Amino acid sequence: MNVLVTGGAGYIGSHTVRALQAAGHRVVVLDSLETGAREALLGTPLAVGDIADSELVRQLCRDHAIQGLIHFAAYKSVGESMQYPTRYFRNNVAGTSALVEAAAHEGVQRVVFSSSCSVYGTPAQMPAAESAPIQPESVYAETKAMSEQVLRWMHATHGVRSVSLRYFNAAGASLDNAIGEDWSNAANLIPLVMKATLGRQGPVQVFGADYPTPDGTCIRDYIHVDDLADAHVRALQYLFDGGATTALNVGTGTGSSVLDVIRTTERVSGRPVPYDLVGRRQGDPVTVFADPTLVRATLGWTPQHGLDTIIESAWRWHSTHIDGYPSRRGSDG
Ligand SMILES: NC(=O)c1ccc[n+]([C@@H]2O[C@H](COP(=O)([O-])OP(=O)(O)OC[C@H]3O[C@@H](n4cnc5c(N)ncnc54)[C@H](O)[C@@H]3O)[C@@H](O)[C@H]2O)c1
Repeated sequence: MNVLVTGGAGYIGSHTVRALQAAGHRVVVLDSLETGAREALLGTPLAVGDIADSELVRQLCRDHAIQGLIHFAAYKSVGESMQYPTRYFRNNVAGTSALVEAAAHEGVQRVVFSSSCSVYGTPAQMPAAESAPIQPESVYAETKAMSEQVLRWMHATHGVRSVSLRYFNAAGASLDNAIGEDWSNAANLIPLVMKATLGRQGPVQVFGADYPTPDGTCIRDYIHVDDLADAHVRALQYLFDGGATTALNVGTGTGSSVLDVIRTTERVSGRPVPYDLVGRRQGDPVTVFADPTLVRATLGWTPQHGLDTIIESAWRWHSTHIDGYPSRRGSDG
C-alpha cells in the first residue's frame, strides 16, 4: 500500500521506512529535517516540510494516493520539554491534530502513532501493562498522552482508526550498518555509552548504584530499532485488516540495568567504558519494563533481538560513523 511516513528521516522512522519497503509498501516521507538526515532515507522520496502545513499534507496524500499514515514527527527531549512547554505542545499536539485532520480530508483513515511508555509516568506496577493509569510526569509525556486522545476522538468522530505504539527504549542500529542513530540528537543511555567509549565525551554518569536491583543500578527495557520497525509494519497491516483503535506497549518484557549496558559494551568493543557512579537523579523510576502480552496477541509481534545485538549493532554503527550523518555535522556533538 501507499504510506506517508512523517519523521521518516529520523532514527526510528528511517528504520521503519526500510521495513515497510521490504514488506512491499510504497513510501513517501514528510520531514522538516530539523533533527533528521536525508542520508538516512537511502533514496526514498522525501518532501521537506512541516506536519502542520495542511496544504502540503493534503497535496502529498493526493499525489501519492496515500492509504496509511505512520506518524513519527515530534520533538522528543524530556528536559527540553520542561524548558519550552509550548514549543512541545505546538509541534507534538497541534502538529498531530493538523496532520491527522488534513490526511482525513483526503480519505486517509489509518494511522500508526509513535507514543511512549512515558505516558505511564512512574508505573504503579511492574511490568507495565496498557491498563496502567496514564499519568505523565513531563510535558513531553503529556504531549504523547494528548496526541493519543486526539486520535481516539478522531476515531469517535471521523472513523479514523489508529494504533498508538507506546515504545520502551529504542536502541541499536540496522544490522547491515547502513543506517543508525545520529547521536547529536540523542540523550539516551546507549548513545551516551558509545560516545564515552569512543572518547567523544567524558565518563558516563551512572545515576544511583544503591537501588534495590541486582547490581544497584536502574533497569530499563531496551528494544532493537528493527524490532520496533517491524511492530509498525504489523500495526499498519492490522489496521488494513479492520483492526480497532488501540494502544499497545512495544517492549521486550525484560529489563537490563545500566551496568549490564556498560559491561556488554566493554565486552563487545574490547574497550573500557569510562563511567562515574553519582547520586540518584530525582524522578528516575527504579525499574521499567513492558508487559508485551497485548502487542503479541494483537499483532503477533515478538522481538527478535536482545541486548547483545543491540549493543553490537550500536557499536558497529557509532564506531564507523563517529561524526554521524554528514548533513547533520556541527548540529551538536
Ligand atoms: N527514541 C526513543 O527511544 C523513543 C521512545 C518513545 C517514543 N519515541 C517517539 O518516536 C518518534 C521518533 O523518535 P526518534 O528517536 O526517531 O526521533 P528523531 O528526532 O530521530 O526523529 C523525529 C523526526 O521528526 C522530524 N520532525 C520533527 N518535527 C517535525 C515537524 N513538525 N514536521 C516534520 N518533521 C518533523 C525530525 O526532523 C526527525 O527527522 C518521536 O515521536 C518520539 O517522540 C522515541
